[in-house]
Formats: sequence, structure tokens, C-alpha cells
Amino acid sequence: MIIKFPSGFLWGSSISSYQVEGSNEASDWFEWERSQYLEPAGKSTNHYNLFRGDISLARSLGHNALRFSIEWPRIYHSKNLVSRFEIDHYLDVLSSLKSKGMVPIVTLHHFTNPRWFAERGGWLRPESVDEFVSYVRTIVFQLKSYVQYWIVFNEPAVYIYNGFIEGVWPPGVKSLNEASKALGNIMKAYVLAYSEIKRIYGRDQSYVSIAKNMRIFSPCYYFNLGQNNIFAYLRSYFFNFRIINYLISRRCLDFIGLNYYCREFVRCGKTMFGFECKDAHHEGLKNTLGWFIYPRGLYSLLMGLRRYNIPVIITENGTSERNNTGYYRFLRSHIESVAKAISSGADVRGYLWWSLLDNFEWDKGYKHRFGLVKVDFNTFEREPRKFALEYKKICTDNAIEVNSL
Ligand code: BGC
Repeated sequence: MIIKFPSGFLWGSSISSYQVEGSNEASDWFEWERSQYLEPAGKSTNHYNLFRGDISLARSLGHNALRFSIEWPRIYHSKNLVSRFEIDHYLDVLSSLKSKGMVPIVTLHHFTNPRWFAERGGWLRPESVDEFVSYVRTIVFQLKSYVQYWIVFNEPAVYIYNGFIEGVWPPGVKSLNEASKALGNIMKAYVLAYSEIKRIYGRDQSYVSIAKNMRIFSPCYYFNLGQNNIFAYLRSYFFNFRIINYLISRRCLDFIGLNYYCREFVRCGKTMFGFECKDAHHEGLKNTLGWFIYPRGLYSLLMGLRRYNIPVIITENGTSERNNTGYYRFLRSHIESVAKAISSGADVRGYLWWSLLDNFEWDKGYKHRFGLVKVDFNTFEREPRKFALEYKKICTDNAIEVNSL
């Protein structure tokens, strides 16, 4: 049977500035790559200079929306020095999207901070809140006439986990105390940014949210199933729902941006959340990063999110595979899950593949390829993968054929 998506459904893909633009030397990540001897982002896909072609390409692939991020380090050269040139750059990006009739979904913070901000102590200081909110005020005021959808933070929990608990991302801290301090400041900054955006828009409509990474946490069914169940439940509560519950209680989420990739098997352990079981005994398809592919999980998350009574946009869903069959199977099975959830009453307004282009995968460098479009990082040539054309058909039909409901 064929399932139609609601009219006006947003179809497209996501990118983030640091991962595709290239030459973001004012960012804390630039410094981090050097200090940790990581593969550097370098010129990446050179999207900063090639954005017009990338937007035309996305349009030709049937997309009517693009999620991209603004690089805060490009805009604020120091605490008080704003670059008119860089604001104009993002205005050009937005006017290019407009000329193609595409809806922009703009992220304000996608893991990177200005170096001056990091050098002063980053998110661990109370002043970080005002520093970030003044950037939000400037950029939203300047870009307002082009944008309705704002994602203030991408995946705050992932950012905190990697940067302040595991210490594998900048600032490389490993402390629960510091993690909770930084998260507290990020949450304060979000709440203030939300009301700033509403004030700037006045009566004009804006939709503001975060992009929340959610996973399915399944108990490892070898050894201690009963206890593993409890730890899986705790992980799911803390990782998936705590931030959302808080922001809902503050009445400052207009929709939920959902980033969904995989499921994780959880084992009980000494720490509060146990640990991820990576033993070979779990069967199932995995992507090149070893993540367990689990399309049904998207259906159950979407059904679970109905309780908040606000719309959902899937702001990221994607994979890195070895061949086109892998990409296509992932794409199709996840969109089928979305279609089924909509048929069962979930209010989903859009689906954005991660990512439009192959890009810089943070501490993993360039090995893993998430792009609808393959990129040659020497020549910057772009070539859509085959599954991008299958995706185009779904986008343009605004429908998908499924075997059963
Ligand atoms: C992040 C992206 C990242 C992707 C794949 C998401 O959680 O928002 O920046 O590239 O995962 O790892």
C-alpha cells in the first residue's frame, strides 16, 4: 500500500558548518585537532565557497528543505567584534535557498565554539550564557526575514558526554561535576535564547527547538537480563528524555528536532548508567562505525514522543555504509517507520537525511561517509550516490509504498 505524507512535509538533508565549510580556523575544534594529532578538517568539502552549487544540487535531488548551521566562531571574532562580512555570507546562503524555494532550518550551535570563548573557560563559566545569547540576538535579528525554524543547540547531551565526560572532544574534560556545570549553562542559554528569539519575532511566527539525539537502549540479553533492563531504562530516561522534559516544563520547545541513528545494548555495571555491551554476541546489521541499525526504533520513538503534543521534525537520520544497498536499505526502512508512525497518529512534519555531503566526522576524520552526495576531497567534485535518486522519488512523490502497516 502507498502511504502519503502530509502536504507541506519537509524533505531534505542536514549539514553542519564545521563539518563541510572548510578552513574554520577560529573554532575550538581547529585547535583540538592539532593538539590531539587528529585528522584535520582542513578545507573539508569547501562548501563555504561552493554553497550555491550544493543548494542547486539538493534542489535537483527533490529536496524542499535544508538544515545548516551558522559557525559562531566566524561571526564573533572576539567577545565584542562581529563580522559583517560573515553575516552577509549566511545571508547569501539564505537568499540562495529562497531562490530555489527551499525552507531553511538553521542551527545556531553545532558542537563548535569560538577559540576566544574556549580560552576563557568556555561553557564552564556563568558568563558563557550571555556571550552565547548575544551571538543569538545578533544573528537572529540579521537573518530573521529568511528563517522560521531555529535549532539553538545540536545534541547538547552528546556534546557534554564527549567533551566533558569522555573527554574525546574539546575541551577534553573528564568530570561529572564539570559536565553538569556546562550542561546547566547550556540549558540556561537555551531558555534565554528562546525568549530572545520570540521577542525579536514579535508577532511573526518562529519555531524554536534543539536537535535531540535519541537512541534505543535495549538490555543485553546475555547475563543479568533483569538488571540490564533497569540500566537500559535509566539510560533511556537520562539520555533521551531528561532535557526534553525540562524544556517542555519551561514551555520553550515549539517542536522536537529528532536525530536518530541506532540502538545500543546496555549491561549493568558499577556506574549509574552501566555500559554499552559491544560483545560480538549481538546480531544485527551494523554500519561502518559499528552502530546497530534498528529502523523499528524510529517508529517507537515517534510514537513515544506523541505524549508531548508538539510536532516532530526528524532533523537527522542517516548512516555510513560500504555500498549502495546498505544506504538504500537504511533509508527506505527508516522512512517506512516514519510513514507508519504518521499513519498511527504521530505528528511528524519533516525528514532530513544526515548528510547532504560526505563530511568531516569529528574525531573520526573522513573515513565514514554519510553523504547522499559523494565528495572527492582533493578536487571537491560532487557525485550523487544512487540511493540519493531513490530518495528523490520519495521526496517528489511525497509518498512511499509499504508492504503492511
Ligand atoms: C551529529 C553529526 C554527526 C552525525 C554522525 C550526529 O549526532 O549531529 O554532527 O556527523 O551524528 O556521527
